[in-house]
Order: sequence, then C-alpha cells, then structure tokens
Amino acid sequence: MSGVSWNWRYYLAVSTAFLCNMSLGILTLESYGYNEVGLTMALRVSARFSIILFVIAFAISSLYKLVHNKFIKWFFVRRRIVGVAFAAAHAVHLGFIVALYLEVPKVTLNSPSPFYEVVGGGVGFLVIFAMVYTSFDGPSTKLGRVRWKFLHTHGSYYIWAIFVFCFAEAFIRDSKTLRSKAIANLHPNIYYYPFVLLLFSALLLRIYITKRQIDKT
Ligand code: HEM
Repeated sequence: MSGVSWNWRYYLAVSTAFLCNMSLGILTLESYGYNEVGLTMALRVSARFSIILFVIAFAISSLYKLVHNKFIKWFFVRRRIVGVAFAAAHAVHLGFIVALYLEVPKVTLNSPSPFYEVVGGGVGFLVIFAMVYTSFDGPSTKLGRVRWKFLHTHGSYYIWAIFVFCFAEAFIRDSKTLRSKAIANLHPNIYYYPFVLLLFSALLLRIYITKRQIDKT
C-alpha cells in the first residue's frame, strides 16, 4: 500500500505505456494486414510488451530485498505506477481481442480462442481492473491493508498463471491449427523462450525471497 503519490508525471508514464503498445500493434497490423492473422500477431505483440511491465511490477519488491542499488530502488518506490502502466498497456490486448472478434465473427481459420481462455483471461482482466482501482489512495485505504495484500498478492499470481497458460496454449497450438500455422511461419516458437524464462525467473525469485523471510521468523 505504501509508495509514492500520484502526480502528472506518473499519469504521463502510464499513458506512454499504453501509446507504445498501441503503436507496436498498429505497426504489426501495417505489416501483416487488418485481418485474422494480423490481429493475432498484434495480440501476441501486445501481450509481450505488457509482460515486461508485469514482470517488473511482479518481482521488484523481491529483487529489492536481494539487491540494493539506486536503479532498482527507483522502480521499487514506483512499483504501483509500474503496475498501473502494465494494466494500461494490457488494455491494448483487450482492444485487439474485441477487434479480432468483430473481424472474425464466424470461425474462419480457427476459433479466436477456446472457451476456457475466454473465461480465464476475462477473469484476469477483472482482477487487473480491481488491482488498478485499489492502486489509488482512496480505494486502497477503504479496502484495508489485509484485504489489499490478499488481492494484490493472489491477483498477481493469477495474472502470472494466465500469461504462462496463454503462452503454453499458443505454443502448442502453433503446430495444430491453420491460423496458428500461418503465424508459426512468421513467428517461430523459439521467440517464446525469453518471455517464458522471464516469467519463471520472476516466480523463482519471489518464492526464494518468501522462503527466506519464513526461515528468518
Ligand atoms: C489477463 C488476461 C490475459 C493475459 C495475461 C493474456 C496473455 C496472452 C499471452 C501471453 C498471449 C500469447 C502471446 C504470444 O503468443 O506471444 C496471448 C495471446 C492471445 N490472447 Fe490473451 N491474455 C489475456 C486475456 C485474453 C482474453 C480474455 C482473450 C479472449 C477473449 C484473449 C485472446 C488471445 C488471443 C486470441 C491470442 C492469440 C492466440 C494465438 O496466437 O493464436 N486473451 N494472450
């Protein structure tokens, strides 16, 4: 709950995260066309951009407990802003989901997403919304420290799981469906590895720091 107070610079940073991801998406659509394949590529790009902000927000407290330097401290103090910037960037993913469903109302190459991904991811967006709302002083005070901690700890693990699940899903699907095969030609599976490595390193770091704290008490 602690951290810095919101000011125009932080709102600017959050808007910049949104605009950067949006620009990457538009560039992707420019390259691949406004169609099912182009929108799926834009979805992939948007998820990958937002993952970087997510990992910083997810792991910065643990990293700061391990390494003390000015750079890490800067992000640690502003971790709430990084979290909201992640949400703003990930709103672009939501925008492309809507665009994909509008563009492909009937199944052409393949259904846009399996049902469980729609439900799991949909809940993910609700969790992100709740976390953003409670990142502001008023709502966070109203919620209370214990409930705030519960929401932000469990919520961040849930979003982590959705990222891993969606990567695994897209990775496995690349060899199976027509749309994914078309994308796999443009986008080999090896591109997944750095992002998966990033997600698991962040998780291991959090587990290690939590275990260390438990051992100390
Ligand atoms: C918190 C919520 C969500 C997260 C964290 C998330 C994350 C991801 C990730 C990591 C990918 C794979 C990116 C890649 O291959 O590089 C992805 C792709 C995708 N997501 Fe999401 N997603 C979320 C919600 C949703 C929802 C609700 C839907 C659909 C209703 C959806 C539809 C898609 C689609 C269609 C793709 C492209 C799949 C493909 O490559 O064939 N996502 N998402």
